[in-house]
Amino acid sequence: MPLVPPPLIWNPDGDAHIDGLVTQLGLSVVAEPPENTDSLLVFFNEGRLVVGRHPSHREHPICVDFAEQYRLRRPGKELLLKAIGGRRAGLTVVDATAGLGRDGFLMASYGAQVSLCERHPVVAALLADGLARGSRAEAEVAEIVSRLRLSAISALEMLTTATPDVIYLDPMFPESKKSALVKKEMRLFHSLVGSDEDTEALLALALQRAKHRVVVKRPPHAPPIAGPLPQFAVSGKAVRFDIYPLRAFPT
Ligand SMILES: C[S@@+](CC[C@H](N)C(=O)[O-])C[C@H]1O[C@@H](n2cnc3c(N)ncnc32)[C@H](O)[C@@H]1O
Repeated sequence: MPLVPPPLIWNPDGDAHIDGLVTQLGLSVVAEPPENTDSLLVFFNEGRLVVGRHPSHREHPICVDFAEQYRLRRPGKELLLKAIGGRRAGLTVVDATAGLGRDGFLMASYGAQVSLCERHPVVAALLADGLARGSRAEAEVAEIVSRLRLSAISALEMLTTATPDVIYLDPMFPESKKSALVKKEMRLFHSLVGSDEDTEALLALALQRAKHRVVVKRPPHAPPIAGPLPQFAVSGKAVRFDIYPLRAFPT
């Protein structure tokens, strides 16, 4: 992970959970967020742990909200389902680059057991908060969330022992020059995480550890990750999934 300035913890409502986070994340706490800076702030907003900037930026903070993702789902967007090989009883997936867990939640909604692997401590804290709220949400959401497990470690470590059916990778892609076109939320996420510099090593390890296939999410016109070439791809307007089949799924 390249060095990006660490966010600050802000506790405007005196939320008791923040003390645990301060210890867990080892970040500095500020009484008032510094105005006129780009500093990222971690705080609780309407019961959700979020990352955002000073309120004067008028930027929507980012958080993990599986109930909202479930409400906003658009049936028919099944490219990812195709990419992971369809619905299969007991399919195990390691989402090695979990991020905000959106793809992981989608794969769990297809019935897969998904291990979410996230190495960035603040992103992992957002996920842990989202999973806790998701498990208390309406039954349909809680049922999907029950198939998600979080490991707040690097996938390079996790995959030394895990051998799931499918390994899914969606590494950070260098920020687009056409930044006006990049969603604001993605820019915020990029400022928090930076870019992933070890994607080739992750793909190489994933290809050794997956039982059936490795799936890599890429922007539509981006080259595949350097290394062995994918055998085929599943493409849409906004995204492409490169598929590295290893062994056929049992019929
Ligand atoms: C583009 S985001 C993934 C977004 C995710 N697919 C979603 O639907 O929300 C990439 C994430 O992968 C994480 N990441 C990258 N390499 C990793 C690794 N080796 N182990 C664990 N997490 C990693 C980054 O910290 C970042 O949060």
